[in-house]
Amino acid sequence: MRSLHQKPGLPYLVPLKQPPAAPQGVDRGGGGAYYAGMNADELRSKYIAFFKSKEHAQIQGKSLLPDNDPTVLFTTAGMHPLVPYLLGEDHPAGKRLVDYQKCIRTGDIDSVGDTSHLTFFEMLGNWSLGDYFKEGAIKMSFEFLTSPEWLNIPVEHLGITVFEGDSTVARDEESAAVWKSLGIPAERISYRPRSDNWWGPAGATGPCGPDSEMFIDMGREPCGPECAPGCSCGKWLEIWNDVFMQYNKKADGSYEPLARTCVDTGMGIERTVTILNGKKSVYDTEIFAPIVQAVEKAASLVYGADREQDRSVRIICDHARASTFILGDPKAVSPANAGAGYVLRRLIRRAARHGRKLGITGLVLSPVAQVVIDRFKGPYPELAENKEYIIAELDREEGKFLETLHKGEHEFEKLLPGLLKDPRKIMSGRLAFKLYDTYGFPIELTEELAAEKGLAVDRREFEDAFRKHQDLSRAGSEQLFKGGLGDQGEMAVKYHTATHLLHKALRTVLGDHVAQKGSNITAERMRFDFSHPAPMTQEEIQEAQDIVNRQIERDLPVTMDVMGLEEAKAGGAAALFGEKYEAMVKVYTIGDFSKEVCGGPHVERTGGMGFFRIQKEQSSSAGVRRIRAVLEK
Ligand code: ALA
Repeated sequence: MRSLHQKPGLPYLVPLKQPPAAPQGVDRGGGGAYYAGMNADELRSKYIAFFKSKEHAQIQGKSLLPDNDPTVLFTTAGMHPLVPYLLGEDHPAGKRLVDYQKCIRTGDIDSVGDTSHLTFFEMLGNWSLGDYFKEGAIKMSFEFLTSPEWLNIPVEHLGITVFEGDSTVARDEESAAVWKSLGIPAERISYRPRSDNWWGPAGATGPCGPDSEMFIDMGREPCGPECAPGCSCGKWLEIWNDVFMQYNKKADGSYEPLARTCVDTGMGIERTVTILNGKKSVYDTEIFAPIVQAVEKAASLVYGADREQDRSVRIICDHARASTFILGDPKAVSPANAGAGYVLRRLIRRAARHGRKLGITGLVLSPVAQVVIDRFKGPYPELAENKEYIIAELDREEGKFLETLHKGEHEFEKLLPGLLKDPRKIMSGRLAFKLYDTYGFPIELTEELAAEKGLAVDRREFEDAFRKHQDLSRAGSEQLFKGGLGDQGEMAVKYHTATHLLHKALRTVLGDHVAQKGSNITAERMRFDFSHPAPMTQEEIQEAQDIVNRQIERDLPVTMDVMGLEEAKAGGAAALFGEKYEAMVKVYTIGDFSKEVCGGPHVERTGGMGFFRIQKEQSSSAGVRRIRAVLEK
């Protein structure tokens, strides 16, 4: 595992410019700029400088890969690394903090390609740990947004939302009163429900509370009489969120008041730069300009000329940027079939596929990554430090994927004569699924190849086959996350139960940082990948093996329950979290020993599994170890 080389006390700052006079009286018609020329570096520096002038200590943003937190795969907000402090621990830098934090959100991964969704983004944030609360936070937000010295946004273009209250927490009149005292008229303060104005971390438990969000009026006509700040019609764009942390949401769903109230705020850099410059899309800002250019160059096309092509360009830009940051992180993972590594693999492969769609025949990711590294190495020096690793991993994964594509194409060619005999000119979904399942050949490509030969693919049948496969290999939404059980023969099922026993045994022997990164089972053996920074000692291997064998001897019963993922987690079940949090999941419990979210199937009792022997323990990738083990008679 590489060292954390970002040195605290070395804030990345650029010289600040004065903003131009506010564009008074200009009809912005949904597009004019407040601050044309304000770039990401300058916004970042201004934000930090402003809060430093308000006695905040600048702290170093943290890794994209959270420490010992199985509830999320990536850091999803600036508050994430600060959770212990929001819950009451003292922070060494004090009670007022400010930083910029790299974040990844995968919930909208399929929306990336439109003009606004991003996988990777940067978040600016300031925190009060038991220091100022609503009034202090709002007054500082207002000053930063509107003061001529800072962002200089006209007060009359600001709109606000506050929490409307419910049976648990009162309507937030306090925040509304502060906003009014600063000159925001009542008609531009909108009271909104919990679904809009309540914030908690992605892991569903932890510090949370009502929030007050700040919006910019883009100058469009209201969409109707109900149109107010918070409306999603496009008139109001959110640029900042002040969260008033008052509760700790517990695993049983109850809210416990925090020992001290805290403030957590978040301003997305990409979105704010887009709005300040009056751009329609984040891809039109200076943040993405060189990245878009790199794709234009690779594909010899002009961005903005063709809708479908533009979508592919945006997907490549976002995914290449996100992949570069994941691989450039001090705690980098490499592409894998589980967890964060799986998200990375998916990003790389999707970008590669769109590269092909644009007619790029060679590798597309690494040339774009070079530009991303150059563009962001100032605020994120780890990108330059890890450049070789980033490029090598991208080339390797993309290269492997291109091979897969060639193989798939070859298989398709072989199937073709048979397919062409079908009078309806339809390729069965089963065959398409087989290409997907066996060669990893994406359905979209099968459809593309089929279309070239005048064939349609039975998409519904493909999806049925896909779903069936999913149901078999795992419960709920954790599609492709935990190595599912393809082979359901007796030995494979035994090995599957053995992975649960080994997982728990490793956590017992090595510590709670151990998380399953993947598994692979055949009728002859099992492989198990897990996070651990160093080779295991002989003693540790022996101990883990002994623990597993003890559970087999105890002949423990294996039981299964279906429940919500949150409930499963609350009950202490080990789970890897995918993109969707609401899914019902199966939880397998092995006696009093292990509890894990999993699709199954498993043995009914551990007794007949045989003798468990670890044959090999070796490195799998950075920070990930691999165990190969067998069950003997
Ligand atoms: N944590 C809050 C957010 O991400 C500020 O919006």
